[in-house]
Amino acid sequence: MEFENIIVTTQNRIQYITINRESKLNALNKFTICELHEAFVDAFNNPDVGGIILTGAGPKAFVAGADISEFADLSLEEGTALARENQKLVFDLIANGSKPVIAAINGFALGGGLELAMACHIRIASDNAKMGLPEVTLGLIPGYGGTQRLTQLVGKGKAMEMILTADMITAEDALQYGLVTHVTATEELLAKAEELMIKIISRAPLALAAAIRSVNAGLTDGVNGYETEIAEFGKCFGTDDFKEGVAAFLGKRKAEFKGK
Ligand code: COA
Repeated sequence: MEFENIIVTTQNRIQYITINRESKLNALNKFTICELHEAFVDAFNNPDVGGIILTGAGPKAFVAGADISEFADLSLEEGTALARENQKLVFDLIANGSKPVIAAINGFALGGGLELAMACHIRIASDNAKMGLPEVTLGLIPGYGGTQRLTQLVGKGKAMEMILTADMITAEDALQYGLVTHVTATEELLAKAEELMIKIISRAPLALAAAIRSVNAGLTDGVNGYETEIAEFGKCFGTDDFKEGVAAFLGKRKAEFKGK
């Protein structure tokens, strides 16, 4: 598949998606949103892909936000539609994806950029990364899930402070807040993401998908996460991977999962 604003490569069952608008600090314009949608749908459907690492091109930014130049003339209705459609196209798609997605935050992750990272299942950052939700400086609020996901990740008090002040935080602060799980030197960021992903995709794929659904269920309005966990746990017993996992443990060998 040919893309203009993102680069997609696959190696050892890991799909790398790199947002590639370096001159605009990888800001998310509508074409980039469409391409991300296509790339993630493809990755989730491609049996040769076990997990996805998402990052930004260049040394400066993961994503410096939604492309502000596209906002200038939007009406109330258009603003509402933009948030609703794009949340569904990319942010919810990633969060509810059946394969693990790691955001490797290699610089600024602001506004829609931090929201994109927060839609991923795991976030790690380079030590030069800066994160924030500066929308109120533009007379806006986060519109791609930021008010919800930041609150879930760091708690209401810190989320309120970050959103209301619009301040950026450092990678170290983000680590302390639980917004990212590791901070590395810039040149080691992708290697750390790969180390995590290699371990994750050595586990049973259907169990990974079931775990993602169960964790998400507890954070979904009107859904009982404990009931989802029970149902997903039960379904695992019907998989070949479960039989393989147990046989491998009892046989003192490494499991060879097939995702069936
Ligand atoms: N949307 C559109 N363009 C953006 C952008 C965004 N969110 N963020 C950066 N850019 C563009 C700049 O307009 C500039 O383009 P130009 O060279 O054609 O003028 C280019 O990327 C480089 O950015 P610049 O501001 O010159 O870099 P800097 O190092 O001085 O500042 C930031 C970096 C991240 C602090 C600054 O770009 C910024 O504040 N960006 C907006 C962040 C934001 O509010 N995001 C939330 C949007 S809802």
